[in-house]
Amino acid sequence: MSTRGAWSSKFGFILAGAGSAIGLGAIWRFPYITGANGGAVFVLVFLVCCLVIGLPVMIAEFSLGRHTEKNAFGMFRALHGGRLWKWVGGLCIVSGFVIFSWYSVIAGWIIGYLYAAIIGTFDFFQGSTAVGAFFSAFAGDALLVSLLHFAIIFGTAFVVIRGIKDGIETLSKWLMPVLFVLLILLAVRSVTLPGAGAGLEFYLKPDWSKFSGKMVLAAMGQAFFSLSLGMGTMATYASYLSKRENIATSAAWITFFEVLISLIAGFVILPAVSAMGASYTEGPSLIFVVLPGIFGAMPGGYFFGVGFFILVIIAALTSTVSMLEVPVAYFVDEKRWTRRNAVLFVALVSFLIGTPAAQAHGASEFWTHLPGLGTDFFTFISTLFGDISLSVGAFFIALVTGWVWGARNAVGEITAEGNTFGLAGTWSFLIRWVAPVTIAIIFVNVIRALIVG
Ligand code: TRP
Repeated sequence: MSTRGAWSSKFGFILAGAGSAIGLGAIWRFPYITGANGGAVFVLVFLVCCLVIGLPVMIAEFSLGRHTEKNAFGMFRALHGGRLWKWVGGLCIVSGFVIFSWYSVIAGWIIGYLYAAIIGTFDFFQGSTAVGAFFSAFAGDALLVSLLHFAIIFGTAFVVIRGIKDGIETLSKWLMPVLFVLLILLAVRSVTLPGAGAGLEFYLKPDWSKFSGKMVLAAMGQAFFSLSLGMGTMATYASYLSKRENIATSAAWITFFEVLISLIAGFVILPAVSAMGASYTEGPSLIFVVLPGIFGAMPGGYFFGVGFFILVIIAALTSTVSMLEVPVAYFVDEKRWTRRNAVLFVALVSFLIGTPAAQAHGASEFWTHLPGLGTDFFTFISTLFGDISLSVGAFFIALVTGWVWGARNAVGEITAEGNTFGLAGTWSFLIRWVAPVTIAIIFVNVIRALIVG
């Protein structure tokens, strides 16, 4: 343990876990996935997924990581029958590379928007059409988006190599409450915009005709994504955690904050969509075409805009740092690489994988309209290594924790050193039955729908 480093305090661990969870998943992805999946019903399914699958899987990841004190690959190999399970660890490592690669594209866009906000580009935008044109020109600039992507990938690497990761997390401890207040103010502005009513109704009033297997998969994928689950991130963080800390309450707090921020982000973005006549199904560009309009319609909008983009970049950095950690811990633990080499290697590979994703919003015709796939490369890999790989990963994490290692042993780990876990019975049931069975049913349904057409 001592050679692998450790968290200085319980608070440090919750902070890092919350830093990993809170990021673009809540602020950028939740609003656009909600928009694309019909609004309120999606939100309800998302909440249920967070509570009955996400939270139990987070507790499983925490106990697995702390118990084995290993990286995501070594963790599975250390278990009974590890020769078989280590491939789950392999999937975690690959997901780490790929998710880091495309996530950094979007974080790069935020830097671009920060710059635009600073030079005052958004001062005049009150409607979505003008912002839409601005966004297209921006995302279509091949060199610019690649440079921004590069800045995030190697900025993250720099933070990790220089050991200033803890500094960033301490900084975010002070800044995240500010982001929270800012989001609330933006939400107030958004819901009071003329024409916001339709968006509010879309967000809050369930329309059950929107219910579908695909939507449920999206909701579950979003729950895993925003809680940083399904690829061993939380397990890796917990591998540096001391036995004294209470895993279950830490997981509950992290889940609570993540869900809260997601819901508020929905109140910021969706009412503004109807107010500005934008489209709910806009996709990954949704917040980028809507936000400048909100700032434009707000007194002091210039400062809100600049402040907001700075805070979101910091929130994104505490998330990219945690993604990078999964493959890096693997190379350091298993391959005995130096941390520095591992970080640079992962950063370089992720930069290369992410490059076509950066060009997939208009900069390159090929990557924007992938021949034969009917979608762009960004949507393609972010669905595959997002919703799908995380759900598969979470399925095996639940299965392995509940059955192979055993829920009873996991509860023993959770209650080590006198910690109490009142809901041990409920958790055991959720992790052994509810989580794996639900994930499997959703998958079978989606695959059947794909085959039947
Ligand atoms: N949860 C983070 C966010 O919402 C992103 C993230 C960090 C993540 N680590 C992860 C997503 C691991 C999936 C898996 O921004």
